[in-house]
Amino acid sequence: LKTKFENRLSSAKSSDEVNKFKVEALGKKGELTQILKQLGSLSVEERKEIGKKANEIRDQLNEKIELKRQEITKALVEEEIKKETIDVTLPGVDYLVGTKHVINIVIDDLVDFFRSMGYTVDDGTEIEDDKHNFEMLNIPQGHPARDMQDTFFLTSDRGNDWLLRSQTSPNQAHVLETHDFSKGPIRMISPGRVFRRDNDDATHSHQFYQMEGIVVDRNITMADLFGTLNITLKHFFGSEREVRFRPSYFPFTEPSVEADVSCFFCDGEGCSICKNTGWIEVLGAGMTHPNVFKAAGVDPDKYQGFAFGMGMDRFAMLKYGIEDIRDLYTNDVRFLEKFEGES
Ligand code: PHE
Repeated sequence: LKTKFENRLSSAKSSDEVNKFKVEALGKKGELTQILKQLGSLSVEERKEIGKKANEIRDQLNEKIELKRQEITKALVEEEIKKETIDVTLPGVDYLVGTKHVINIVIDDLVDFFRSMGYTVDDGTEIEDDKHNFEMLNIPQGHPARDMQDTFFLTSDRGNDWLLRSQTSPNQAHVLETHDFSKGPIRMISPGRVFRRDNDDATHSHQFYQMEGIVVDRNITMADLFGTLNITLKHFFGSEREVRFRPSYFPFTEPSVEADVSCFFCDGEGCSICKNTGWIEVLGAGMTHPNVFKAAGVDPDKYQGFAFGMGMDRFAMLKYGIEDIRDLYTNDVRFLEKFEGES
């Protein structure tokens, strides 16, 4: 009987089968129980002996059942582990990883460069008031320069308005208003988005990026401005570029200049981007106008300064040969991917 039980147990393949066997063998109606029930018809001696034997078999069987259960569980776990083994030779799944946007590549490069010269960085805010975007920058109501920057006004009363900044220059007014000169000079750049009412085409966009710069201290001269812009442009466009300055006009700087770099995007003849002149304009700048100092409560007899404004989109387009400004805003992955690995 014992061997018969053991054979049946060892052929069980799942814990269900083990349970079934246990009921059949040891349950109330099980075979062993049936045998024990018949003991009444035997002599005392025989009863004792068979009873003892039957109990032994039951105990051993219980033990074996337990072992069998463990064995089955172990086998299941092992099978599971085998199934989950990673085949390291299988090709991996390719995840699409984003790339740094070319505008950010340009901004980060210049921010690093100016930081290395001790400049602080202040992004300012995209919503400004008329006072900082225009008034304090020597552009009063009715000034023709307002027409140069067709502005998105956010409230209808144009007298004292909130607007989307049309330039990053309001950050000049903010820093002049709040700066504590006992802590040192102003050396600050402000990169960020600006907005103008414009019809979008390959060279115009109703939103684009500028980077403002302002330096104010005692004895700042135009030589400081020229020197700063010279090394900045050579750093960005390449040391072999030539830089020239032309007189220009901005209400908040006097004198004002525009800087050109020598054309390297195409050859002189038939080069539309450089208008066949061999030069391309890249930024506006000048010495801070005394009215700007006065509007912010800074004494123009004590302090001098220079400021500049660079178009980040134009910088990016010239450096990387991008022909359509809309490529910078439409987020076509095929365009964005071209700048993978640039930093
Ligand atoms: N804010 C001017 C513009 O948007 C650029 C500029 C900045 C000019 C600072 C001079 C000084 O055209």
